[in-house]
Amino acid sequence: MLRLCPTLYPLFSLFFISCFPFLKSELPASQRATLLDLSKLLGSWDVDKNPNPCSWKGVGCNFDNSSVTDITLSGSSLSSDNVLPVICQIDTLQALDVSQNSLNHIPGEFIELCGAISGLRLLNFSNNRLVGPLPSFVGFKRLEILDLSFNFMNGNIDLQLAELISLKSLNLSSNSFSGPLPTKIGRDRALEQLQLSKNQFRGTISEDIVGYMNLTFIDLSSNYLSGSLPLQIGNLSKLEFLILSANKFSGAIPESVSRISSLVRLAAHENRFIGKLPIGITNYVKNLDLSYNNISGSIPVGLLSKPQLETVDLSHNELEGPIPGDVSSSSILVRLRLGSNMLNGTIPATFGKLQKLMYLELDDNKLTGVIPNELGACKILLLLNLAQNNLEGRLPSQLGNLQALQALRLESNNLSGELPLEIMQLRELMILNLGWNSLNGSIPRSISVLNRLVKLNLQGNYFVGAIPDTIREMSSLMELQLGGNQLTNPIPKMPEKLQIALNLSSNRFEGLIPKSFVGLTSLEVLDLSNNQFSGEIPAYLVQLVSLTELNLTNNQLSGVIPPFRTWVLLDTKGNPNLIPHTTPIDTSPLRKKRKPIIVAIGVVVVVALFISAAFVIFIFVMTKRYYKGNVHDSEGEVPPTTMVIQGKQLSLNVIHRSNIDFSEAMEAVSDPSNIDMKTRLCTYYKVSMPRGSSYYVKKLKWNGKIVQPGSRDKFGKEMEVLGRLNNSNIMTPLAYVLTTESTYLFFEYAPKGTLFDNLHGSLGNVLDWSSRYSIAIGAAQGLTFLHGCASGPVLLLDLSSKNIFLKSLKEPQIGDIELCKVIDPSKSTGSLSMVPGSVGYIPPEYAYTMRVSPAGNVYSFGVILLELLTGKTAISEGAELVKTVLGYHSKQNQKWELQILDNSISKTSPYVRSQMGAVLEVAISCVSPSPEARPKMKAVLRMLLNAR
Ligand SMILES: *[C@@H]1O[C@H](CO)[C@@H](O)[C@H](O)[C@H]1NC(C)=O
Ligand SMILES: *[C@@H]1O[C@H](CO)[C@@H](O)[C@H](O)[C@H]1NC(C)=O
Ligand SMILES: *[C@@H]1O[C@H](CO)[C@@H](O)[C@H](O)[C@H]1NC(C)=O
Ligand SMILES: *[C@@H]1O[C@H](CO)[C@@H](O)[C@H](O)[C@H]1NC(C)=O
Ligand SMILES: *[C@@H]1O[C@H](CO)[C@@H](O)[C@H](O)[C@H]1NC(C)=O
Repeated sequence: MLRLCPTLYPLFSLFFISCFPFLKSELPASQRATLLDLSKLLGSWDVDKNPNPCSWKGVGCNFDNSSVTDITLSGSSLSSDNVLPVICQIDTLQALDVSQNSLNHIPGEFIELCGAISGLRLLNFSNNRLVGPLPSFVGFKRLEILDLSFNFMNGNIDLQLAELISLKSLNLSSNSFSGPLPTKIGRDRALEQLQLSKNQFRGTISEDIVGYMNLTFIDLSSNYLSGSLPLQIGNLSKLEFLILSANKFSGAIPESVSRISSLVRLAAHENRFIGKLPIGITNYVKNLDLSYNNISGSIPVGLLSKPQLETVDLSHNELEGPIPGDVSSSSILVRLRLGSNMLNGTIPATFGKLQKLMYLELDDNKLTGVIPNELGACKILLLLNLAQNNLEGRLPSQLGNLQALQALRLESNNLSGELPLEIMQLRELMILNLGWNSLNGSIPRSISVLNRLVKLNLQGNYFVGAIPDTIREMSSLMELQLGGNQLTNPIPKMPEKLQIALNLSSNRFEGLIPKSFVGLTSLEVLDLSNNQFSGEIPAYLVQLVSLTELNLTNNQLSGVIPPFRTWVLLDTKGNPNLIPHTTPIDTSPLRKKRKPIIVAIGVVVVVALFISAAFVIFIFVMTKRYYKGNVHDSEGEVPPTTMVIQGKQLSLNVIHRSNIDFSEAMEAVSDPSNIDMKTRLCTYYKVSMPRGSSYYVKKLKWNGKIVQPGSRDKFGKEMEVLGRLNNSNIMTPLAYVLTTESTYLFFEYAPKGTLFDNLHGSLGNVLDWSSRYSIAIGAAQGLTFLHGCASGPVLLLDLSSKNIFLKSLKEPQIGDIELCKVIDPSKSTGSLSMVPGSVGYIPPEYAYTMRVSPAGNVYSFGVILLELLTGKTAISEGAELVKTVLGYHSKQNQKWELQILDNSISKTSPYVRSQMGAVLEVAISCVSPSPEARPKMKAVLRMLLNAR
């Protein structure tokens, strides 16, 4: 201000004296000329309409418009660096923001010219495509803020930043820098913010860091840093955020950390820290996350009593001894996670004082005693997880006071007594797992009032009597686990929404398999094993279109096993009177006796086939009338009483538009022999169009739920947006048809099937490493594209190797991109996703967030990478692939990679072996248990490309 005044005064007087037409000061001619040059290069400013550059978008001037101080060209599609030296001609520049462009180089001329600008304070090159090593910054005496995050820079950092004497904020996160952490950052050590996360830095944190006394923010997460933390780190007395997660740090957490009175957040999860928790570690912090380490000893008394604490996560360590019960009634603790330790003793009754608590997880410990009644006072609790302990006694009726509770997990304890009726007050409950306890009595009729319940697990208890017939009113229920009890007939009608599983195994059911199961058209797993069911296996079970697993072992069933589809995993062991349907009509003497039965059955089958064929033809004729009249390659809306509501082309591609024939497609989907594949949420038909080419027509399940009449327009709009997405690695919908029964989408046909089939399934192992690597890159490209969509990220609800389709062995396409639009769980059913993803691909945070997120997609993608690397399925040998791999990883054995990688591939050459090693590291970072520690898709893609 003071410096400006002398220049300002003469300018003003000049205007007055010369009677200049307007009373405004102007930019000096040289700056005007520079900006006009820039305008030509950028072609973005309308010079004629707006002669004053200070009014141009992205140009900032000082208060009297006599000089340019800020240039902001963020998101201007810059790809050529020739504008940079021109900008540096503005010698009054204070801030330059060229973030979110496609620059790939910082020219030497820029460093030279801009380095000489004495007032330059801020440079933002974030989110570009900068490659190569960090340039040496010479000059830039006043530069305070340097942001180079989200680029592709690599190499070591040595003295390139040493000259930046005023630097206060350095952000190099999400690049590929390697080597040791930079230690020489600005001679004056004025640094306040240091962000180096998501690179490949190795080695230890030097004691020198303690010399940067003004540091307030340190983020070193997601690198390969190791060794112990400097003991004197506590001398950084202004530190507010210390984020060290997802590295390989070891040793104990230094006691001195607890002395930093400004510290707000300490996150050091996913490292190899050992030793005890420093006493006083929570003296000042609000957020503490030390999960996934090897910290031992007991939890210090007083740790939870600090009034400023908001979240504490010490799960997955080796903590033992009791949980300290001293908590303050003014506590603002929101989340407490102590799961997967070896804690013993009882659950402190004082936890009832935690009035702000929303998440309490004490699972997988050695806790004993009863569940304290006082917990019922935690009024806003959403998740209570006390599973896998040794808790005993009855379920306290006070739990009924937890009116906000969404998930109650008490499985694998020794709880006894009857189910208190007060539990039925938990109207928000979506997950109730009481399995593997010693509960008894009958299942109350009133359980049906829990109408938001999605998963109900009562298995492995001593429940007696019949299943209440009210159960069919539980309209949200998708999984019902009642196995291992002493339940008896009658079996009531089940809720039709059941999808994930119906388990009635190991009870005392008898008689015929109930006819009412015919309505369970979404059900995937039906387990009736270990009962006394008798009679024949009803033929309608074959018609349960979603069924993938049917367990009938150890019953008294008889007759011929009906012909189930090849994808149904059928187990019929222990039914001595069952006859396999595959038995050929054999004329050998030994089989002769059976022949009449088989012939009779053959006749029955033929008749049945005939009848169903006739039925199909009937439906055909009926429906065809509508199609012919109403669907003409166009958008004709017809009254909802008819079959087809709407059919519409989405693709602009003329070839697809002329190929796709809606009537032909609707005929084809009524014929089950056209089913190409089934996934959890849809059925794919291969349909050959009259002009010769084939398409996938995909039928979405959960009709009605997906497209409600009111939201038809919205659906159409969403599909149009998706139809316009243009990326070779995603399957975009080409057209759709809505009928009163279903929703059909049209896609290009993928001749090579799914990645799952090619890796594990019917198509055998045909993928060499170069194909697998191309698939990894292509899928990452598709996902990066989807997450970065201009209209908002497109998330995958159920990403697995079963919805990566192969156009060729090197060209993957991500399918099912529309699911999040048509069944957006966060929009349609509150906070719980109706689609829990496929087992093996579900990120662990799902247990409490219950939301699909970009980080969740990254996790699922990591599982796919692991499949490509190991050749194993996401669930193999009964365990999640992620757990198996992380198990080997944590053992720190030199050879662990060899034990994991697909031998048939990794042994082909040392080059392949080392590339697989690099991709494995990417996969490991994707499946990090903590969502924050996972890289973004963009970074994943970059890391994969770097592995080349
Ligand atoms: C500076 O330029 C801006 C944009 O054209 C204008 O709104 C503002 O009034 C000018 N300020 C002075 C002091 O001339
Ligand atoms: C740099 O630009 C990015 C993207 O526009 C923005 O998110 C970031 O906050 C900016 N950095 C600084 C230090 O202003
Ligand atoms: C640290 O910050 C203080 C207060 O802002 C300032 O006076 C001091 O010069 C800074 N130290 C360094 C080394 O820049
Ligand atoms: C809890 O465990 C500690 C050590 O692991 C042991 O010394 C103590 O006796 C145990 N306490 C109870 C109540 O079991
Ligand atoms: C069927 O159930 C039995 C007994 O419950 C079990 O041993 C068997 O593994 C199950 N079969 C399949 C295919 O899961």
